[in-house]
Amino acid sequence: MNIFIAGATGRVAQFLIEELVDKGHQVTAGARNPERIDVKEGVRPLPLDLHAGVEDLSQLLQGQEAVYFVAGSRGKDLLQTDAFGAVKMMQAAELVGIKRFVLLSSIFATEPERWSDPNLVSIMDYNIAKFFADNWLIHNTKLDYTILQPGNLVEAETASGKIAIHVKQSQPNSIPNVAATLAAILESSNTYQKIIQMSDGDVPIELAIQNV
Ligand SMILES: NC(=O)c1ccc[n+]([C@@H]2O[C@H](COP(=O)([O-])OP(=O)(O)OC[C@H]3O[C@@H](n4cnc5c(N)ncnc54)[C@H](OP(=O)(O)O)[C@@H]3O)[C@@H](O)[C@H]2O)c1
Repeated sequence: MNIFIAGATGRVAQFLIEELVDKGHQVTAGARNPERIDVKEGVRPLPLDLHAGVEDLSQLLQGQEAVYFVAGSRGKDLLQTDAFGAVKMMQAAELVGIKRFVLLSSIFATEPERWSDPNLVSIMDYNIAKFFADNWLIHNTKLDYTILQPGNLVEAETASGKIAIHVKQSQPNSIPNVAATLAAILESSNTYQKIIQMSDGDVPIELAIQNV
């Protein structure tokens, strides 16, 4: 597939690009600083600023078949990037007829009653931004979406390849495992219109995804 990644210089995106290229996909890597993307077969860097309007964003999506939104502002630009940047990418995708949209969100972002948990209370504004984007995708689009909600991300060199889904508590997620899960979701139609709450675990990713 031709796949667009928004936020392609990010930590998750770097692993996601590898996963998708390994599976034979063509990746367009949208980034504010596309010169930071490793140019190689199957990867085309493209300038992307999520402050742009929907019309301009839709131009970047011409010829694409799926969009991943894995961008984020680390709390510095929550409204324009994490919230409305995501919404505009959804609108842009619909404008050019793309159906598949995978949104990287955060654990319990759609469950405000959980936001006073000790490990979430300090990221309330972030969760509000994610709540807005997640709910827009669910209620205001006709996209074949999947929303992945991991707990805190931790760096690792390789994916263990084993995760847990339907988690009840926020637990650590290695970045390579999150990227591998995002890649596994892409063509799994059983994940359409679903929120997947995940952490590292002991079930092989492909098997876990079958049970979503
Ligand atoms: N950190 C956690 O524990 C955690 C837990 C659960 C979910 N998440 C979610 O996972 C996402 C990805 O995590 P990560 O660690 O890979 O993030 P990251 O390394 O901070 O990457 C974020 C990406 O977004 C891009 N970006 C920011 N503002 C932009 C804009 N206005 N236009 C275009 N691109 C923009 C950044 O580009 P620049 O390099 O140009 O800034 C960067 O490529 C986070 O944003 C968060 O929503 C994080």
